[in-house]
Amino acid sequence: MAQKGKIVILTGAGISAESGLGTFRDKDGLWTKYDLEDVATPQGFARNPQLVVDFYNARRANALDAAPNAAHTALSTLQKQYAGEVIIVTQNVDDLHERSGAEVIHMHGALMGALCNACDHRWPAPRVMGLTDPCPSCDAPATRPDVVWFGEIPYFMEDIAEHLQSCTLFAAIGTSGQVYPAAGFVQEAAYSGAETVELNLEASEMSPAFDRHIQGPASEVVPRWVESLLS
Ligand code: APR
Repeated sequence: MAQKGKIVILTGAGISAESGLGTFRDKDGLWTKYDLEDVATPQGFARNPQLVVDFYNARRANALDAAPNAAHTALSTLQKQYAGEVIIVTQNVDDLHERSGAEVIHMHGALMGALCNACDHRWPAPRVMGLTDPCPSCDAPATRPDVVWFGEIPYFMEDIAEHLQSCTLFAAIGTSGQVYPAAGFVQEAAYSGAETVELNLEASEMSPAFDRHIQGPASEVVPRWVESLLS
């Protein structure tokens, strides 16, 4: 099989919607129930850390009770069977990509990760995180979820930039394209000459920036798209 180009895939909350995990900005999305200032900013954590730890404990429980859907599984298959490299970058903090057998770059951190606010040590998060859990490394009671909040720097940005500069195909799946830097990835990929495709239930903020748009629920359109790439 001819060596095919590198594919970079960006996923957002929409890929996990059919697994029962809420999105953020859809009707009754998470940001319609919680003020993101309170639960997804360092200031919110400083104001009321218990509220934040409880919020992520609830999301971690939801994620643990959810299962990957056909879209996650299709991307894992693509990664295993495609001749070229397939890089999956997710904005999601759930672990459904990993649980479907895929390798994934968590640019916004992960619900299953814990971080020490005092010494930056990272370790696997307990199912229920306690505010005063001592850090396994420095013992400080400064545990927080290892999730990137608004105003903080997303992870792995240098690696991601390199992938965007060297890919021949860029796909965004289930993201509203409203949060940077992820929303700018399509332009970076297009600038490097990649073909760009958006797979989403409906049009997004970034739809005009894509060469192609495949509309429909991820669990239907992603498997079909993967099949077309592997055939
Ligand atoms: N199949 C495909 N797409 C879907 C589905 C589905 N079943 N359901 C919803 N979508 C699409 C919506 O049309 C929307 O474009 O998923 C997108 C969800 O958008 P958001 O809720 O804004 O989620 P996301 O784009 O991942 O948010 C980005 O914002 O709050 C921060 O850090 C948080 O990572 C998150 C970032």
